[in-house]
Amino acid sequence: MKARKTLIAANWKMHKTVEEAVTFVKDLQERLPFREDRNVMIAPPFTALIAVRSAIRRNDIWLGAQNCHWEDKGPFTGEVSPLMLYDVGCQFAIIGHSERRHIFGETDEMVNRKVKAVLGKGLRPILCVGEKLEEREVGETFNVVSRQLKEGLKGVGRKEADRVVIAYEPVWAIGTGRTAKPYQAQEVHAFIRGMLSELYDNGLASSVQVLYGGSVKPDNVDELMAEPDIDGLLVGGASLEVDSFCRIVSYRV
Ligand code: PGA
Repeated sequence: MKARKTLIAANWKMHKTVEEAVTFVKDLQERLPFREDRNVMIAPPFTALIAVRSAIRRNDIWLGAQNCHWEDKGPFTGEVSPLMLYDVGCQFAIIGHSERRHIFGETDEMVNRKVKAVLGKGLRPILCVGEKLEEREVGETFNVVSRQLKEGLKGVGRKEADRVVIAYEPVWAIGTGRTAKPYQAQEVHAFIRGMLSELYDNGLASSVQVLYGGSVKPDNVDELMAEPDIDGLLVGGASLEVDSFCRIVSYRV
């Protein structure tokens, strides 16, 4: 039995039409056994949020967005606000994904605003942190993760921090087929928990879920989930097919 309840989150990125999204959710609900110890979150593209919300029939499956702006409304062409996500029934929002940081230029400051805005609407942010390959190679992993975590959580009080989920996603492992070895992920997860204890307290550090993401597949899920500080997964590519996603959610340790 894991110390914390497991969260397996599907990040569909820019994939699936409304029809494909709804078909997936229906199949998943038919095939996935209900388990007390784990929850699922699905983050479809914005265009499929409402349809997926209506297709969800189980209280162990939650809805999330992949990103949002920090303001409730205003002249921000192309953006979607936390208020709008709340309005369509999202419970989670992925914030600071490395693709947002590195392709769309999101800074730690923007990530921090988003984290606070999402919390302010009663949603739970999944705050993503993780180093690039060149940073790992020069021994900067802990510095990068520590900075992203500190900056991302700046001004977030103890009470709100309870609702934050952290995802460690080494950039070199995302979509590359190169997974972090379980011990490499565990080492960073333990470090993150230590930082949470420094920033808040031991109670919070031991209750916050820390997910791993980066080329999670059916054939590496069991060994990753066997690590004590890995409380769940953020899955990209392998969350697009019901078969592989079901196998991942049904991990065995
Ligand atoms: P991947 O993506 O599983 O395709 O590596 C993970 C993510 O970007 O969250």
